[in-house]
Amino acid sequence: MDWGLKNRLARIIKHHDNRGVMLAVDHGYFLGPTERLENPRKTIAPLLPHADSLMLTRGVLRTSVDASYPIPVVLRVSGGSSIIGKDLSNEKITTSIKEAIRLNVSALAMSIFVGASHEHESLVSLGNLVNEGEEYGIPVLAVTAVGKELEKRDARYLGLACRIAAEFGAHLVKTYYCENFEKVVNACPVPVIIAGGPKLATELDALKLTYDAIHSGAAGVDMGRNIWQSDHPVAMLKAVKAIVHQNLTVKEAYEIFNKLKHVEKPAAATKPATKSGQKSSRKS
Ligand code: 5RP
Repeated sequence: MDWGLKNRLARIIKHHDNRGVMLAVDHGYFLGPTERLENPRKTIAPLLPHADSLMLTRGVLRTSVDASYPIPVVLRVSGGSSIIGKDLSNEKITTSIKEAIRLNVSALAMSIFVGASHEHESLVSLGNLVNEGEEYGIPVLAVTAVGKELEKRDARYLGLACRIAAEFGAHLVKTYYCENFEKVVNACPVPVIIAGGPKLATELDALKLTYDAIHSGAAGVDMGRNIWQSDHPVAMLKAVKAIVHQNLTVKEAYEIFNKLKHVEKPAAATKPATKSGQKSSRKS
């Protein structure tokens, strides 16, 4: 691996323990104003000091993150479909490598849709993005997307998708945690990090998910909703980070969460209003 690529990857997966905590705030690229991410700057600002890296689109990066803040950026460069469109798998590369370089990013991220109608296009796009990333020393994070089919999240499917991503040259793969997750990790020759998925019933559930993933071999998390949809996002991020980097148990991390939540002002429970002024009932 070339020096520049290795150096950028080390900003995301830390050298001392080979783990990383990435904060995902890219959801708007297909979900629009996701609950509690309606005002990205407001959601992101208090969390920035506690994440190892930040995953987002160029639009939110430019408008909602100060350029002087030294956080490594993982830039989502794929898109082209929305939650109300026909087919979420119909994505293409939407942001150029020149733009990524201009934004001084540490990695490029795109989704692949294995088994979906646009499987072929997304895999060919991954190959092309890796070609460009290798040329300029920028690692590529492949996201094994399942679209609306959340039930696809089992070891057989995710293992297949992660392995294909690695075979195409992805330097890092993001997937979902599932039963027998060790099988997914063991068959993938590059580091695997997990998404949190839709908000779980409690913070304890999300901490357990983090712990189980790390102890099944995950190299970290790329987590969004289970952090910033919590009433106490900073406490939650710190508790997740303690599991990832300090090997804390779920009980210990939950104690940290409970201690810190008392000093954090609860996040405003606003829901995005629709054009007619009604509250949205969307689950995302
Ligand atoms: C959407 C993404 C998200 O970044 C990913 O799903 C992580 O966020 P969450 O923890 O909320 O699932 O890549 O395609």
